[in-house]
Amino acid sequence: MTAKIITVFNQKGGCGKTNIAMHLGGALGRRKKKVKIIDADPQNTATRWHAQAKDEAPFPARISNLSGLGAALHREIKADLDNFDYIVVDCPPSVDSPIAGSALLVSDLAVIPVVPSPADLWAAVAAKKLAAQAQATNPDLKAVVVFNMVQRTAMAKGALDVMAEDEGVPVLKSQLGLRSAYRECQVMGGTVHAVPRAGAAVAEVEALVDELLNELK
Ligand SMILES: Nc1ncnc2c1ncn2[C@@H]1O[C@H](COP(=O)(O)OP(=O)(O)OP(=O)(O)O)[C@@H](O)[C@H]1O
Ligand SMILES: [Mg+2]
Repeated sequence: MTAKIITVFNQKGGCGKTNIAMHLGGALGRRKKKVKIIDADPQNTATRWHAQAKDEAPFPARISNLSGLGAALHREIKADLDNFDYIVVDCPPSVDSPIAGSALLVSDLAVIPVVPSPADLWAAVAAKKLAAQAQATNPDLKAVVVFNMVQRTAMAKGALDVMAEDEGVPVLKSQLGLRSAYRECQVMGGTVHAVPRAGAAVAEVEALVDELLNELK
């Protein structure tokens, strides 16, 4: 087993990095894959979310909190390559942190969550630049943008037009809507699969995972 490494990053705060990392990791775990989520953010959001689960219904992926490793993170990620099918890294929202750059050195896929709003689109330029820098040393790295908290289709369509101009970093077809289920599931220490009547959220998460797996082929 050689783990595929997926790094979720964007220096913009609150765009959905932890939401996407936990749903990606959790959904792959539900598919019986061996998954480790690396919480690389000193805010510990992913770790706290994971810790909310009850013993009888644990979160469907392992977690390690490695936010203190800084620029050495890639060494510790690589040390686990033979133990997992997928390693998903949740990065902090910092321009200065070396964490994302370190994780991208050893990653197969870079996932940049973007909220389709003007401020978030402007901030995404820096995230894409970081991905391009990493690709200079890690040419196998693929980078994609995922729209999160999509509320109005017209705004998402406009954002899509802006983003689509950059052929190097495609925008995935799958998007996550703005849905209360993504907040509710954190209290339960699970994914939206654990939330009653959250079928629409489950369907979009599963579609996103399918599309990301396709990018890894
Ligand atoms: N699709 C969504 N629908 C509704 N709420 C969402 C969605 N995605 C994320 N959220 C909520 O928005 C907030 C920020 O999301 P999240 O923590 O995933 O962002 P982040 O990029 O990891 O933030 P930070 O930069 O602080 O690490 C959280 O309260 C989260 O539950
Ligand atoms: Mg986060």
